[in-house]
Amino acid sequence: MASSCSSIPRTFLLVSIVGFLLPSQSLALKSFFDPRDVLPLLPSQVSWPILNYLNNAADLLPAFVGSVSSPENSIQWQGSCFYKNSAWLEFHNKSGSEYGGGTLHIKANDAHSWTCMDFYIFATPYRVTWDYYFLAREHTLEIAEWEGKEEFEYVKKAGVSIFLLQAGVLKTFQALFDVLPLFSTTDYGEKSNIKFLENHMGATFEERPRPWTTSVNVDDIQSGDFLALSKIRGPWGAFETLQKWVTGSYAGHSAVCLRDPEGKLWVAESGRGNGVEDDIIDVLPWDKWWDYELNNDSSNPHIAFLPLHPDLRAKLNETAAWEYVRSMVGKPYGYHNLIFSWIDTTHGNYPPPLDAHLVASAMTIWKQVRPTLAANLWNEALNIRLGTKDLDLPEILVEVEKQGSSFGELLAIPEQDDWIYADGKSASCVAFVLEMYKAAGLFGPLANSIQVTEFTLKDAYTLNFYENNSSRLPKWCHGGDHVKLPYCQILGKYRMDLPGYNSIDPYHNMNERCPSLPTEYYRPNNC
Ligand SMILES: *[C@@H]1O[C@H](CO)[C@@H](O)[C@H](O)[C@H]1NC(C)=O
Ligand SMILES: *[C@@H]1O[C@H](CO)[C@@H](O)[C@H](O)[C@H]1NC(C)=O
Ligand SMILES: *[C@@H]1O[C@H](CO)[C@@H](O)[C@H](O)[C@H]1NC(C)=O
Ligand SMILES: *[C@@H]1O[C@H](CO)[C@@H](O)[C@H](O)[C@H]1NC(C)=O
Ligand SMILES: *[C@@H]1O[C@H](CO)[C@@H](O)[C@H](O)[C@H]1NC(C)=O
Repeated sequence: MASSCSSIPRTFLLVSIVGFLLPSQSLALKSFFDPRDVLPLLPSQVSWPILNYLNNAADLLPAFVGSVSSPENSIQWQGSCFYKNSAWLEFHNKSGSEYGGGTLHIKANDAHSWTCMDFYIFATPYRVTWDYYFLAREHTLEIAEWEGKEEFEYVKKAGVSIFLLQAGVLKTFQALFDVLPLFSTTDYGEKSNIKFLENHMGATFEERPRPWTTSVNVDDIQSGDFLALSKIRGPWGAFETLQKWVTGSYAGHSAVCLRDPEGKLWVAESGRGNGVEDDIIDVLPWDKWWDYELNNDSSNPHIAFLPLHPDLRAKLNETAAWEYVRSMVGKPYGYHNLIFSWIDTTHGNYPPPLDAHLVASAMTIWKQVRPTLAANLWNEALNIRLGTKDLDLPEILVEVEKQGSSFGELLAIPEQDDWIYADGKSASCVAFVLEMYKAAGLFGPLANSIQVTEFTLKDAYTLNFYENNSSRLPKWCHGGDHVKLPYCQILGKYRMDLPGYNSIDPYHNMNERCPSLPTEYYRPNNC
């Protein structure tokens, strides 16, 4: 069991966050030289407009050349620099670890010029790396150790996927890989997440006095109370880190408390499952949920308890809340609409080095390593926006330009809560909680003009929905901490800061046009 808003494997992380196309600005740069060879040497601000000028969006996608799983099934292809290439994979156990590692061999021959190079991405669902080749000879890519049984089995069966990229994107990718946090479930992985958030988001991590776990009295927890989670270790931690960075949220996952007619306390949550692909919406007894977070969640979860304001609690229709929750239990996690809560604008949501090309690239890579899930992920949502049916990503890119729009504009079109996908309604972790609030009447007459699938985690905790009278917080609220937060942190080594907490009244079309650029994350009123 594991999960979070980020209940998605790490490639998804790359795909979702790394990706996301910026509107291709068609800068009509004139070039007096054949730029292809020098592009890799230029900063991306320069090389990217040139590339855009030379190619259409679909041509810039990484080209899948094949996958290699053993020396017996080597593959051959033509690159853009080297015309004759071949690759094969050799498993080894140099690390002496349980599943060993591997060496990917690539032979490049017949360069079309002296100065050109080919640039590749190598991907499994568990890792993405890259390299570029300038010399005609045999090159190797070392994978010291597979991530574990899953990756080992996957690579034996499906292989490592190889993608050829346009050379000009090299700088962009370099910049990107420099900022990617680590997925590792070690102290080192956790430290790298913390460092990333400090450097790129301006977050601070202050250690709290022990105990880091609060003894909670469940009698003080009521229907509608919000749980904000922040995970900082392992794949989920890394995914949340990127999600926090692009959205400006200081939490990465959420759940909601609910009492049944007998008074028993439950936690309803979107993004709980047994594996990476089968995360679902579920409702668990509080004890079971809390026990899991305390003892079994390897992502080092930090949890804040945000009690609902008594006026709203009085308004909350428990019957309607349960009806909504029951109608969603067992449905898949809200992959379809996850990205749309983040992207509202054509320019204001992508911190560098994220840009248009990376989005489509990441989507393409994802599709190759997880074909069954990929069709599910965005294509449907993009087709709905475009008014088309069953178009694949490259076709979408072509169609959107034909319609005189851009991929960036397409992504910025607000999601509608009542859109129904092939696998039913879709709800990410926070959309699920807010949909429940909506069903239970907390948005009152605004319900029809608010699309909660447009809300990020930050949008949820900045809503003016929570207890604002500190003398009414539960006795155990602050645990052993001398710093009195306006909410109750119940788990975690570091203090959970939620800037803007409990401050924004809901309004029509809330959060449908909000920029989110680090490190200020300036949010205009009424966006
Ligand atoms: C690699 O070597 C270690 C130690 O010798 C061994 O325990 C492990 O099973 C080996 N792994 C593989 C995949 O051969
Ligand atoms: C949770 O962890 C405990 C001990 O840390 C272990 O005994 C138990 O099997 C784990 N439960 C699950 C569901 O993984
Ligand atoms: C609460 O919701 C239920 C189910 O939607 C509805 O039948 C009932 O009338 C609602 N109660 C109030 C007080 O609005
Ligand atoms: C806060 O709550 C306390 C205890 O219920 C109450 O006495 C006090 O008047 C409240 N303060 C405000 C400003 O509402
Ligand atoms: C809490 O909010 C209510 C209105 O939502 C306001 O009347 C009250 O004064 C606030 N209390 C405090 C302590 O700020």
